[in-house]
Amino acid sequence: MQAVEGATDLAALEEARVRFLGRKAHLTVLLRSIPELPAQERPAVGRFGNVVKKELEGAIAARRDVLEREELVHALERDRIDVTLPGRALPLGHLHLITSTQREIEDIFMGMGYEVAEGPEVETDYYNFEALNHPPDHPARSLHDTFFVNDLVLLRTHTSPVQVRTMEKQQPPVYVIVPGKAYRRDNDATHTPMFHQVEGLVVDHGITLADLKGTLETFAKAMFGEERSVRLRPHFFPFTEPSVEVDVSCMICEGAGCRLCKRSGWLEILGAGMVDPNVFDFVDYDPEEYTGFAFGMGIERIAMLKHGVTDLRLFYENDLRFITQF
Ligand code: DAH
Repeated sequence: MQAVEGATDLAALEEARVRFLGRKAHLTVLLRSIPELPAQERPAVGRFGNVVKKELEGAIAARRDVLEREELVHALERDRIDVTLPGRALPLGHLHLITSTQREIEDIFMGMGYEVAEGPEVETDYYNFEALNHPPDHPARSLHDTFFVNDLVLLRTHTSPVQVRTMEKQQPPVYVIVPGKAYRRDNDATHTPMFHQVEGLVVDHGITLADLKGTLETFAKAMFGEERSVRLRPHFFPFTEPSVEVDVSCMICEGAGCRLCKRSGWLEILGAGMVDPNVFDFVDYDPEEYTGFAFGMGIERIAMLKHGVTDLRLFYENDLRFITQF
């Protein structure tokens, strides 16, 4: 009884059971040997042996109950789950800076009533060059470092071909922007073989260069801050006449001159101009009735200026230390 009641776990209790009630236990051996005893001793030995056996069995069962309940309490304590603990957060991605900048540009122009159009990245020479007033052998073609698929098919070098595709599909008034990828055979700190542009095209009655300047000033203020101003410098593009390059006043030095703007106070952000009547000819718009302006900007360049990114290649290396900053 001491061994049973002193058992502190189920293994010790089982050991005691085997020792006192198992097949080789004294009591078991005694009960089994009753037939060999003198007949007059058998009833007394048998009765007493069975009383001892019953008492031991009862004590073991009672002790087992206690130990099993204790074991359960321990298990519940050990395996407890605190369902009120916060879960482990899953890593969550976000938009790439190029995508978010593109959407920001889209939002600004959609707020001015523009629609968003798209066109193919694998383009024909006709849309990429010819209908944009680059005749065959025009020297401006060689500025584009084109990836050719064959003589007539290429990866578009700019989003400008979508100007022509849009005008073929609809009559004025046209107010569209065209975000998308463009490709050129270039690769250094300021050029990647694939990059992004946003094209703009407006065609309507009485559109002037003043409308272009006002539109781009509105854009520059929305993108870079109310204090910004823009200036137009004469330039050349085959598909606009006159053509301009557009600068925004430097957001670092506010025009005083610093390293970013190379002491000029101005940063170039895009090319633009009045749609050349030759382009209207290709899409059968009447240049006597309509005028228009167009512009094209690099999304990477806008993002670099706005966020102080100094190497274009960072956008495409997908180093999370860079990407997660935005
Ligand atoms: N397509 C030109 C480029 O990639 C940018 C450009 C300049 C677009 C003037 C225009 C424009 O629409 O009017 O260099």
